[in-house]
Parts: sequence; structure tokens; C-alpha cells
Amino acid sequence: MSEETRPGVDRRTTKLAVVGAGSVGATVAYAALMRGVARTVALYDINAAKVEAEVLDLGHGIQFMPMAQVIGSDDLAVCADADVVVVTAGAKQKPGQTRLDLAEATIGLVNSLMPKLVEVAPDAVYIMVTNPVDIVTHAAIRASGLPDGQLFGSGTVLDSSRLRWLIAHHCNVAVQNVHAYIAGEHGDSEIPLWSSASVGSVPLLEWRGTKTGNGPFDEATRRRIAEDVVGSAYKIIEGKGATNYAVAQAATRIIEAVLKDEKRVLPVSSMLQDYYGIGDVCLSVPSVVGRRGVEARLEVPMSDQELAGLQDSARSLHAVAERFGL
Ligand code: 2OP
Repeated sequence: MSEETRPGVDRRTTKLAVVGAGSVGATVAYAALMRGVARTVALYDINAAKVEAEVLDLGHGIQFMPMAQVIGSDDLAVCADADVVVVTAGAKQKPGQTRLDLAEATIGLVNSLMPKLVEVAPDAVYIMVTNPVDIVTHAAIRASGLPDGQLFGSGTVLDSSRLRWLIAHHCNVAVQNVHAYIAGEHGDSEIPLWSSASVGSVPLLEWRGTKTGNGPFDEATRRRIAEDVVGSAYKIIEGKGATNYAVAQAATRIIEAVLKDEKRVLPVSSMLQDYYGIGDVCLSVPSVVGRRGVEARLEVPMSDQELAGLQDSARSLHAVAERFGL
């Protein structure tokens, strides 16, 4: 069966544009090429020498990847008619800084970049990865004027993956058999949704342990795991200056869900309107992601404590958004 007729493969020539050729952008391009999600991967950066070098380095490995071409430029026209645009450009988090500390430096960039991007790629689905991703998503919606769902942020897909990884280690089971979401801010106020999490088909809160895995998720264990998730990026930034691999994998998962119209449930960040009473703020909740971007949001059952945590997270993001006139 040819690639063009295989089920699940989009017959059109798909184009992914990645804005920003820093460590996250370049790794998103690499991960996307490795997974063969698009026939063309375009890289844009204001630094012409950097983008040229990344394109050469990626291009030299194309022989060993699924069929694709990689192009790049310091001219935004390279993103023209993309199906998906992933935005990674922005200020870099320094050791000790929170993601929200980057808001000021990044919002100006988003305001100037988005209208130009929408002009060259008006029909693309936009995925914001730049931090603070919830505030950046909010600013980008305002600056682009794109309709609900066509622009959203990578949100807590990465945090949920970190959570699942830690739960899998605790239980000594494959991470693919863990279902658990983190909702709220991609940052310090995020909320693990323990009450709907499961391992295999065992509700996480009823987990009793196995012959090879650890015992129940008591309050202390849950607190430790939640703190580990929140602390992950800080620890990695302390050790190697930036996070790039897992965030790129998370972004690629989202890109694939869009390009293949997978209707995959992912905790991405989008503008909520009356989600358990939360509105006018971008944050992550489990959402259905397909060719039109965020196509629906799931009203996940939550404990009173989880809902209160989500509302607190919304309040803190609201305050930051207001401070920046969003
Ligand atoms: C991360 O969580 C820094 O937001 C980035 O890896």
C-alpha cells in the first residue's frame, strides 16, 4: 500500500512551520521529522546564520528519516500556507526564574509576530509553546483575532507526561498504561487530577500496590509526586540550561493529533468560557484535538479540592493577564 493511500495518512502535502530555531524549536523540528508528521518542515528565526545551520544539520539526516524536506529562513514567508505553525520563539527561563517572570519579555514579541504570521498562514492551526504558555496563548488570541480552537497552547501535555512517568515508576508499570492529567497553569499553580487518574483500569485512588510495584497513593506520596512534576523544569534548567526533548515530543504529539485529525484528548491550553464557571482565561483542561485544533473540552469530574485548585490557578493567571492588559 502506498503512503498516499494508507489509512490515517493525510493525502495532501502537509507543511509544519516552526517559529524559533532555539533549542526547543530545533528539537521540535527534529522530533517532527523523526516521526514523519509532515512532508515539509519549515524553520523560521530572526537569526539567519542559526536557522541556516539548523536546516543544514537536520537536512543532512533526512536520508535516515521518513520522507520529508526541511527548509528555513529569516523571512516569515517561509511559513507561508503552513497547516500547523508551532511558536517557540521567546525569552529563555534562567535558573530560579518562574515561567510567569517571562511574560513581559514575551508579550511584546507575540503582539508583533502574530499578525504577520496570520497574514502568511491564515488557515494554519497555531500551537503556542513559548512560556509562560497560558499568558502567551491569551496574548496570541488577542493579537491574531483567530477563532476559538484554531490557536491554543501546548499547556500541560508535558506536565501530564511527567506525572504519568512518575506514577508509572511508583507502580512499576508501563507509562502507556497510566491515565492521568494535570490541569490549570503550565507552571507553579497546576493541579494533578488524581480523582480521575487510573493505572491499567484501576482507579489511582484505589491502587493498593502489586507484587512488584509500590503501595497506595497516600496523601504524602501524591504531594511528593505533584512537587516533583512542578520542580522538573527547574531541576533540568539548573542542570543543562533549558528543557528541550520532552517538550518537543509533547509538541509533536499535539501536531500529529492535528494533522491526522486524531480527536485525541490532550490537556492543551485554550481560552475557556464557562468551564466549571471559569472563563476569559487560557489554561489547560483535557480537550479533544483534531484538524480544527481544539474541537471540544471535556468536563472531567473533579473532587472539590481539585476544582478549588483549578479555580485558584485560573485566578492567578487572570491576575497576570490583567496586569498585561489582556
Ligand atoms: C518545561 O516545563 C520549561 O516549560 C518548560 O520544560
